[in-house]
Amino acid sequence: MPKKTIVDFQKMKADGEKIVFLTGYDAMMASFEEQAGVDMILVGDSVGNTKLGYSSTLPVTMEEMIIFCKAVRRGAPNTFIVGDMPFMSYQADIAEAVRNAGRFVKEAECDAIKLEGGEIVAPVVKAISDSGILVMGHIGLTPQYAAKFGGWKAQGRDMTTAMQLIRDAMALEKAGAFSVLLEGMPAPVSDYITKRCEIPILGIGAGLPCDGQLLIVYDMLGMFELFKPKFVKRYGNLAQEIVRMMSEYAQEVRESKFPTPKHEYHMPKDVLAAFEKAIEELD
Ligand code: KIV
Repeated sequence: MPKKTIVDFQKMKADGEKIVFLTGYDAMMASFEEQAGVDMILVGDSVGNTKLGYSSTLPVTMEEMIIFCKAVRRGAPNTFIVGDMPFMSYQADIAEAVRNAGRFVKEAECDAIKLEGGEIVAPVVKAISDSGILVMGHIGLTPQYAAKFGGWKAQGRDMTTAMQLIRDAMALEKAGAFSVLLEGMPAPVSDYITKRCEIPILGIGAGLPCDGQLLIVYDMLGMFELFKPKFVKRYGNLAQEIVRMMSEYAQEVRESKFPTPKHEYHMPKDVLAAFEKAIEELD
């Protein structure tokens, strides 16, 4: 399949064809996602939690993001890849934001970048978009703003934040975003935004109305066990399966049941005979 472009995503919205979006962090998982026909991969700053063991996304650096984005590109050469701008890579200064966005495209060969925030980041979105880089907006329960929300709280459940989310989505579209990701909000809000905006609207925890859906790959594989957000569907339980396989391996090693002759390298018979004679002579 050739790599999809924004023209394909716009057409998918127009045709009512859902966009399949998953996070990915390394080459092997990205290759599975490409084989599964995923339309877009997000190299999220959730890599901080999933791969780097941080307790939030805030410590993630540009250097770390570039390394993971490069790995995903190598694993999925024909998939549209979105690189996530980490905390403080775009908030302090617009010129620095444009330069950092450029690194995702130039160094990691990403197709687009994503950044969090609505109306307040519209000038940054405009500057990056004006430089020719595709920008995905991200509003709602945006982890980089969790402190301002007083924790991980769904947004748009009251009139003030619901109406703000609509203004945010519209400001991002006007600023040149090619798409907006809605996270953690009620379906009536995402429904209105999806119908009102011409650009593709993707959702994670924003219900069915969105033009496409995102999940964190480790959540949907059942690999992340610490907690399960309401919107996550686990399509299996890989964590249990991995621990089961590792325990079986450990037991077989301890009981000398692994490796078996099937897992060994063998010498040709004549070499073996000569070798056995030679080591006898050594003793
Ligand atoms: O970093 C990430 O994976 C994200 C999703 C939670 C939307 O931004």
